Amino acid sequence: MDTQNTILITGVAGFIGSNLAEALLARGYQVVGLDNLSMGSLMNLTEILQNPRFRFIKADVTELPAVLAAAENCQVIVHLAAYKIPRYGGRLDTLRINEAGGSAVFEAARQVGARVVLASTSDVYGRNTELPFREDGNTVLGSSSSARWSYAISKLFDEHLAFAYNEAYGVKTTIIRIFGSYGQRQHLTWWGGPQSVFISAILRGQPVEIHGDGLQTRSFCFISDTVRGFVSAVEFIPEGCELVNIGAAREISILELAHLIKRLSRTPDELKVKFHPYANFKNNYEDVMRRIPDLTKARHLFGYEPRVLLEEGLERTLQWQRERMRAMGDTSLIERIPSVDSSVSMHRSSPSTPGSMPVAFSF
Ligand SMILES: NC(=O)c1ccc[n+]([C@@H]2O[C@H](COP(=O)([O-])OP(=O)(O)OC[C@H]3O[C@@H](n4cnc5c(N)ncnc54)[C@H](O)[C@@H]3O)[C@@H](O)[C@H]2O)c1
Repeated sequence: MDTQNTILITGVAGFIGSNLAEALLARGYQVVGLDNLSMGSLMNLTEILQNPRFRFIKADVTELPAVLAAAENCQVIVHLAAYKIPRYGGRLDTLRINEAGGSAVFEAARQVGARVVLASTSDVYGRNTELPFREDGNTVLGSSSSARWSYAISKLFDEHLAFAYNEAYGVKTTIIRIFGSYGQRQHLTWWGGPQSVFISAILRGQPVEIHGDGLQTRSFCFISDTVRGFVSAVEFIPEGCELVNIGAAREISILELAHLIKRLSRTPDELKVKFHPYANFKNNYEDVMRRIPDLTKARHLFGYEPRVLLEEGLERTLQWQRERMRAMGDTSLIERIPSVDSSVSMHRSSPSTPGSMPVAFSF
């Protein structure tokens, strides 16, 4: 694809958006970034705000005129702006923003003649027990009384909108089903995922909050690998609509993840765990028990292969998160034990200077 092209990223001030914008600028693209800063921050864009090939627009993705204006002269719209699983309330926001945002983006793409790269989620596979999850597998969701499924439903609506806009108007879309991404600029709350809250708790010497018995499994993909998947999707021209899983295939239980982060953190004392039975959650909360991507299609279409080992990615994330918490004036941080533990020195790339920020990632 011609790198002179202009790419619109919605949700650019968030975790994936800001990392993707940097990667596209580094490849020579012009990037227009739209965000209403409801969950993202301009701090995530400090590296690129002055870049002459980057333009930031503060706007709401649910408003078609704003999206249309931002999309003018863009060849691709990467749609990331969305609300996530409403674990602690906010189901209406998730449903409304994801429906109206998707509707505005596809309508703008139709009017300006752009392709779309849509961020969807592994959550749409839900309770499917046929592992690893393939793109042509079933989406199996639980009861509507369980709030968590509103996120998957809203993303499935956007996926169907992609196929409908292709059928009705020929808009081409690559739908990326993201499997848990982590790394630099992740949210430090549950919005960012379990690894974020586990790291914060462990760095403070506090108990790690585990939902259920912790035997549920996930796969975690370092941000540079997620971003490489998105860059490939930006440069890929589908026939019509394509669904593609992007993630890492290593399966790990949530309890094992807590132990691994504890070991890599080299903080003193033992791991402290506080279990939260699902029954304690409101809104009939339901968890997904296993989640692993089948990456065959990503390999076939993009030559995609995750490169960063979980240990290496977590080490880099721990370093970044410690710096971020320190910069935010977190006084409860405990120090690392100086150690020559060989099990945690398996970098393939060298970490940045201690105390420096941000941690440099290569895409
Ligand atoms: N991070 C993951 O592991 C993961 C996994 C599956 C799917 N996803 C999807 O990837 C996308 C990006 O996720 P993320 O982790 O970077 O989330 P994020 O919350 O860090 O970023 C989303 C950005 O969208 C912006 N936004 C939200 N509502 C908006 C609105 N109405 N108008 C304009 N901007 C708005 C927020 O301010 C934020 O900057 C989302 O669509 C998410 O559902 C992420």
